[in-house]
Amino acid sequence: MENQKKLLTCQKKLFTLPPELHYLNSAYMSPLSKRVQEAGLAGVAVKGNPNQISPKDFFKKSNQLRNLFAKIINVQANRVALIPSVSYGINTVAANLKANKGQNIVLMHEQFPSNVYPWRRFASNGVEIKTVSPPNTNINRGKEWNIRILEAIDKNTVIVAMPQVHWTDGTLFDLEKIGQRARSVGAALIIDAIQSVGAYPFDNAKIKADAVIVANYKHLMGPYGIGYAYYGERFDNGTPLEDNWLSRKGSEDFSKLIDYQDEYASGAARFDMGGRANPILQTMAVASLGQVSEFGVDNIQNYCQQLIAPYTDKIQELGFDIEDRNWRGAHLFGIRLPDNIDLLRLKTVLEQNNIVLSVRGDAIRVSLNIYNDAADMHALLNVLKVAIGN
Ligand SMILES: Cc1ncc(COP(=O)(O)O)c(C=O)c1O
Repeated sequence: MENQKKLLTCQKKLFTLPPELHYLNSAYMSPLSKRVQEAGLAGVAVKGNPNQISPKDFFKKSNQLRNLFAKIINVQANRVALIPSVSYGINTVAANLKANKGQNIVLMHEQFPSNVYPWRRFASNGVEIKTVSPPNTNINRGKEWNIRILEAIDKNTVIVAMPQVHWTDGTLFDLEKIGQRARSVGAALIIDAIQSVGAYPFDNAKIKADAVIVANYKHLMGPYGIGYAYYGERFDNGTPLEDNWLSRKGSEDFSKLIDYQDEYASGAARFDMGGRANPILQTMAVASLGQVSEFGVDNIQNYCQQLIAPYTDKIQELGFDIEDRNWRGAHLFGIRLPDNIDLLRLKTVLEQNNIVLSVRGDAIRVSLNIYNDAADMHALLNVLKVAIGN
């Protein structure tokens, strides 16, 4: 799953972010490195002369992507499908699971809509949706929330659909424990891992999730419009959302496409999106997954941890609250604001200081990666000092 342990230094030089910008918003959308941008241009050039695109190319990069993604989350490559978005991946899951009246689905409080709407439709036949909320306190919030999740999973639970890291504030969920609990009642564990995979380790040999859904454009630092779905044994022989020709057995032979095939291609390729072989997106995606794999996800998370460590205590000393480090990511975390803070003023000062992050209600969401450096965290600390009137 993971490559060599190494201490990373800041990789800002590999990106084209303006030097004066403090971009702390990878949870919204990561920037593209020069390497990924160049791959995009190379993909455009190939499409400029389609004579360079052979039938083999409709398969080669797709399989390369399956292999690269499979290594990042430690699964078999033939269980990886190519998808356009998280919602597509979750809808495929929902279309292939069943539940009866009286049974329930467990979701998290304020979960991202792509992992909620499919379940609301799924549950319209009397299946209950149980939404697990965090405690109404900042003390041991992450730890207690995790306990509540284990308690919410009961003998009637058929699906637990959740993230690894919560998108609003980086709360970390112990998926190994939750997976054990789900398996003990026979429930499927479905993970939207877009806010963690690429920057936080995900080892499915340990978690044993039934489906892991990730889009490429956040912590995998790649293009928009392409992503990956791992589907476990529950989905063998499942039905895809769309019947596309590339997902059928023997589609490699373009001269026989009208010898229509009822059988699907082997493995999770049956669930691939139509139009998966986009030469521009795929070339960029290969470059982005290659880049993340070379740096190593563990190393990226450690880099973020080293970067924020000198600042988190100082921010808390000012009166802001940050979750205990065992229950949040270092690449994505919330800073909860004290009651007396003027949110409008905070937003203005952030803007004046070229700091880009997400402000959500009574918290700000900080998300970083290997292109961030101490100057970004320093600028943030200074703005928080001004906002608090220090
Ligand atoms: C947790 C989470 N899931 C999914 C998405 C994106 O969903 P989709 O790929 O369906 O657009 C986001 C985007 O912010 C997100 O934060």
